[in-house]
Amino acid sequence: MNNKKRIAIFASGNGSNFEAIAEACRQNRLDAQVALCVCDHPGAYVTERAKRLEIPVLEFKPKNYSGKEEYERMILSELQKEEVELICLAGYMRIVGKTLLDAYKEKIINIHPSLLPAFPGVDAIGQALKYGVKVFGVTVHFVDETLDGGKIISQIAIPYEGGDREEVETIIHAWEHAIYVSTLKKLLN
Ligand code: GAR
Repeated sequence: MNNKKRIAIFASGNGSNFEAIAEACRQNRLDAQVALCVCDHPGAYVTERAKRLEIPVLEFKPKNYSGKEEYERMILSELQKEEVELICLAGYMRIVGKTLLDAYKEKIINIHPSLLPAFPGVDAIGQALKYGVKVFGVTVHFVDETLDGGKIISQIAIPYEGGDREEVETIIHAWEHAIYVSTLKKLLN
C-alpha cells in the first residue's frame, strides 16, 4: 500500500521551490507525494513545471471570487478530494485565511528568504540588500494569519560574501531548496 504523505504546494510564480520538493518526492528522498499544485496566477511558470512533472494543477483567479473565504472553500474542497494532509507554501504571495488555517491546523508551512522576523513580505532579498545586511537567511515556519508569521521550524544564516543581487539570489534560492526538503524530511518523520 502507498503510505506516502500527500502534500499540496501553493505557489504564485516561478516555482523553483515547488520543483525542488516535487523532485525530492519523485526520487524518494522524501516519503511524500505532491498531490496538487495550487496557483493563484494562471499560466505562472510553476504550472508548466507541474505539468512537466505530471502533477495536477489547480489554477484560480482570486478576483473571480467574492473574497478569500469563497476561494479558500473551493481550494479546500479540492484538497479534500486529493486527500491532502500537508500544505507547503512556496512563493505563494497571499495571506492564508481562516478557512484553510482551521482545516489544516499546524499543517501549513511556508518558506521565506530572510531571517524572520526580519524583512517579512514581498522582496525580502531586496529589502535586506537595501538595508545593507551582512547576513542573509532563510526561514521555514508554520503559517498563521499574519504576514510571514508563525512558529519557526528551521532557519539558516547565510553570510554575505559580496556579489550583486542576482548572485545573492542564486545562493539564497539554492539554500531554500535544500532547507525546505530537509525540514520536510524531519517533519514527515
Ligand atoms: C522564494 O524565495 C520564497 O522564499 C519566497 O518567494 C520565492 C519563490 O521562489 N516567498 C516569500 O517571499 C513568501 N513571503 P520560487 O517560486 O522560485 O520557489
